[in-house]
Amino acid sequence: MNDHLAIETDKLTKVYGSGNTEVVAMREASMRVRPGEVVALLGPSGSGKSTFLTAVGLINPPTSGRVFIGGRLVLDGPHARTNLGKFRRRHMGFIFQKSNLIPFLNARENVQIALQLNGATTGAARRRAMELLDYLGVADRAGNYPSMLSGGQQQRAAVARALANEPSVILADEPTAALDSHRGRQVMELFAKVAHENDAGVIVVTHDHRALDIFDTIYEMEDGVIRPMQSAVPSA
Ligand SMILES: Nc1ncnc2c1ncn2[C@@H]1O[C@H](COP(=O)(O)OP(=O)(O)O)[C@@H](O)[C@H]1O
Ligand SMILES: [Mg+2]
Repeated sequence: MNDHLAIETDKLTKVYGSGNTEVVAMREASMRVRPGEVVALLGPSGSGKSTFLTAVGLINPPTSGRVFIGGRLVLDGPHARTNLGKFRRRHMGFIFQKSNLIPFLNARENVQIALQLNGATTGAARRRAMELLDYLGVADRAGNYPSMLSGGQQQRAAVARALANEPSVILADEPTAALDSHRGRQVMELFAKVAHENDAGVIVVTHDHRALDIFDTIYEMEDGVIRPMQSAVPSA
């Protein structure tokens, strides 16, 4: 149905600072993700994984290189080729290591606001928020503020929020770092399910090697360079 790639990055390079303090955090990082494909990105701390993910997520533009989403050029180096905020709200779900929920909104309202910002009516947004929280097993916590939720519950509410607008791209930066391995696996499996059901492209930065079997493709990043993980490629 969709003959475009979900995500394509073309030689993304990111330089932080200048002169003596210059850091090249990402070097010509290229990746292609098909609709429905779930990608893991591994690599040591400081290798550039968050820099890459936030570039794809249109949060932290690259110094050079291009980002295409659904076949459309959205970033050309640091230059936006569309309204990035609007595009992000409509097409992308981003999940951070910490849940990043709005502290003065309860779990339901945190999900609901993502829908309303995207044009849903209050009633429809409320119903859909409850459906999502139910799907993620936290409907009974809908009325609780983030500070009253466990780390796992917060993260599941954050996942509900990220999935609310049925994004075609889902990006997660160490989303299970605060979860036990069982809950972590559940969250990873959920990404795979959503990707396959909605034809979304998914990139998950993770350190958790126990859940790697759910991924279609595994890349590793080292010193700003991304390459397919050879050991994980099955012999044809
Ligand atoms: N805002 C910034 N300013 C300067 N250097 C940064 C900034 N963000 C990240 N870096 C540097 O870029 C490199 C890659 O960082 P990062 O993308 O956070 O790696 P990872 O997510 O793999 O741990 C590191 O050397 C880090 O110190
Ligand atoms: Mg990081």
